[in-house]
Amino acid sequence: MSSKNLTLTDNTTGKSVELPLLEGTLGNSTIDVKGIPGELGYFTHDPSFGTTASCESEITFIDGDKGVLLHRGYPIEQLAENSNYIETAYLLIHGELPNAEEFATFSNIIRRHTMINESLKKFFDGFRHDAHPMSMMMGVVGSLAAFYHDGLNMNDEEHLMVSAHRLISKLPTIAAACYKHSIGEPIVYPRNDLDYCENLLYMMFSVPCEDYVVSPIAAKALNLLFILHADHEQNASTSTVRLVGSTGANPFACISAGIAALWGPAHGGANEGVLTMLDEIGSVENIPKFLEKAKDKNDPFKLMGFGHRVYKNFDPRATIIRKVCYEVLEETGTQDPMFELAMKLEEIALKDEYFVERKLYPNVDFYSGVIYKALGIPVSMFTVMFALARTSGWVSHWLEMMADPNGRIGRPRQLYKGSPKRDYVSLDER
Ligand code: CMC
Repeated sequence: MSSKNLTLTDNTTGKSVELPLLEGTLGNSTIDVKGIPGELGYFTHDPSFGTTASCESEITFIDGDKGVLLHRGYPIEQLAENSNYIETAYLLIHGELPNAEEFATFSNIIRRHTMINESLKKFFDGFRHDAHPMSMMMGVVGSLAAFYHDGLNMNDEEHLMVSAHRLISKLPTIAAACYKHSIGEPIVYPRNDLDYCENLLYMMFSVPCEDYVVSPIAAKALNLLFILHADHEQNASTSTVRLVGSTGANPFACISAGIAALWGPAHGGANEGVLTMLDEIGSVENIPKFLEKAKDKNDPFKLMGFGHRVYKNFDPRATIIRKVCYEVLEETGTQDPMFELAMKLEEIALKDEYFVERKLYPNVDFYSGVIYKALGIPVSMFTVMFALARTSGWVSHWLEMMADPNGRIGRPRQLYKGSPKRDYVSLDER
């Protein structure tokens, strides 16, 4: 029993249970509720997991009230300023920043696993040209399980690590292939002399008939966006990866499930949603009308890119990305009225009582879409970009979960509100 505990008493029966208080390094302590069903016969009710810690983790810490985001203890602001995506991925996976040799070895591994099996390329032919890239990502990443399954020993740490490397390396190749399929251009093979973001841009935008020079502005901006999106502790997609992984499923199937969870507009799909929304709003005069829609509880319209389950003052990633957004637009010479519309919307919403009262601030996705657009990345690929970046976080959590000697299958309970037991009635008597 932990030295600190709480006593929970059932006021109907007078029975009590002592619940240990679990203390982390930072953040709220957590009540261990495992004893409640046995002692009192109750489950705990926490729909959408607003207050439930589903696991212990050493990877990422968020303080939503203070706008703090730490990866393995390092503030996101410092990583964004000084690190690169591959180094951040190493940090997430291994827990420490790499020394020069470790970095060289890791980045070499990631560079050299970029090719996909030739027969996987044929999978793309099965998709219609207008299939959403996220649907292709889910399918093709899941299909990697067909190539890496039989020889995979889920009890061998080395095998798990190789799977993690394959995922980080191959996802850009698959993402670019999804894009090429959607525009009817040949799939471009990766180039291992390029770094992670350069290679992605090269595979997306080069064609076999002419030379292509990767824009350093685009590669630098992507690198920063990927650092900002690399991990975000137990969000919907990461929890999905952990839940699927807890069954012992193939890692490529787990990441495919994470991609599915990310796609929704309340999560990673919001960056695409921001652009669709700005298109719909059309011009500054229409902002008040759309703000009224967002406030109307009978209207499903929400201000995309606003609000966050955890951040209630500001999203530290949004502060960094907002600045970069201006820099990219200046460096690329983009004169986009959509950007002015976005900035006006941000200004008006931040003064609006409804948004102020509910602490709804622009999140990272409000700005990332604008940057992607300025870099020439098509809107339907925005969430794919998020998925690529988040893969390092997903695999880190999956590896952490797989290494937990006390790990059990994830299996939530429910509060049943359906019909009580009743007898079957035959069709002619209904
Ligand atoms: N527009 C209008 N109203 C909103 C919005 C919004 N974007 N977000 C929240 N609200 C309202 C919500 O209706 C509720 O109102 P009331 O108290 O009157 O019922 C109140 O604000 C509090 O919301 P909440 O319950 O704290 O929100 P949540 O934690 O359930 O959901 C969210 C968080 C991000 C899903 C939600 O804010 C949302 O749907 N935002 C738009 C989509 C978006 O930008 N998602 C990207 C999230 S950041 C990237 C990532 O990590 O996934």
